[in-house]
Amino acid sequence: MSGLNAAQELHEIALLAGAWLRGEVPPATQIPPTAQEPATAASRPSQTTQDQQPVQQSADMIGERTRALESLRLSFSDCRRCAIAAQRHTLVFGQGNPQARLMLIGEGPGEQEDLHGIAFCGPSGELLTKMLAAIQISREEVYIANIIKCRPPQNRNPLPEEVANCRGYLDAQIDIIKPALIATLGSVAIKTLVSGTEGVMRLRGQTLSYRGIPVVPTFHPSFLLREPSRKRDAWEDLKRIRGILDSQTDALR
Ligand code: URA
Repeated sequence: MSGLNAAQELHEIALLAGAWLRGEVPPATQIPPTAQEPATAASRPSQTTQDQQPVQQSADMIGERTRALESLRLSFSDCRRCAIAAQRHTLVFGQGNPQARLMLIGEGPGEQEDLHGIAFCGPSGELLTKMLAAIQISREEVYIANIIKCRPPQNRNPLPEEVANCRGYLDAQIDIIKPALIATLGSVAIKTLVSGTEGVMRLRGQTLSYRGIPVVPTFHPSFLLREPSRKRDAWEDLKRIRGILDSQTDALR
């Protein structure tokens, strides 16, 4: 994906998401899955890759993705599809590197995230930062989003209709960022993206797939704060994430 076509494609994704928000496009047809770029890992300038693309092309791509994400964010910054919108302080869109090879998907904003508008900025976010650092990845390199963008009251699990209402936004984010790998945090995220019913306890240790993108399910950091004994398992998942990113990079050498 390069040049005008890339810009057009990203623009269309953002437009489609906006149309979907206004109810003009049925959810099933909202965002067409975009073909994965074979050179995805090499085109990312950070993490462990050696960027082989010209600097200008890479800068253009960052600009295009940033604009598409901003356009998407604006298209639903005042979303009122769910009743919980009335209680939120801030809609938490997600944030990070528009060229991220690794996209992390959590459940939904907690109290701190709702106040500050930044995904994983509270206590579980602190642990998440440490987990990433353990595999030599910084938060600046990744993109972080949630299944739902508004905080459910008392941090209850999102309702199926809330998940459905937010699905188009998340898919649009994935389509714009085109991560080489998705890591889901907790059961809500893996059920929503891949399994439907089976949670992280059953699925961790495997590499699954969503829209052709490998998906590694791991524990939610807030679960690890409550159950530190499971950090050993989480470490195995983190090594899996690191290994997949490294093997994709090696394949392009
Ligand atoms: N828990 C989540 O799932 N997401 C956040 O952004 C914060 C806490």
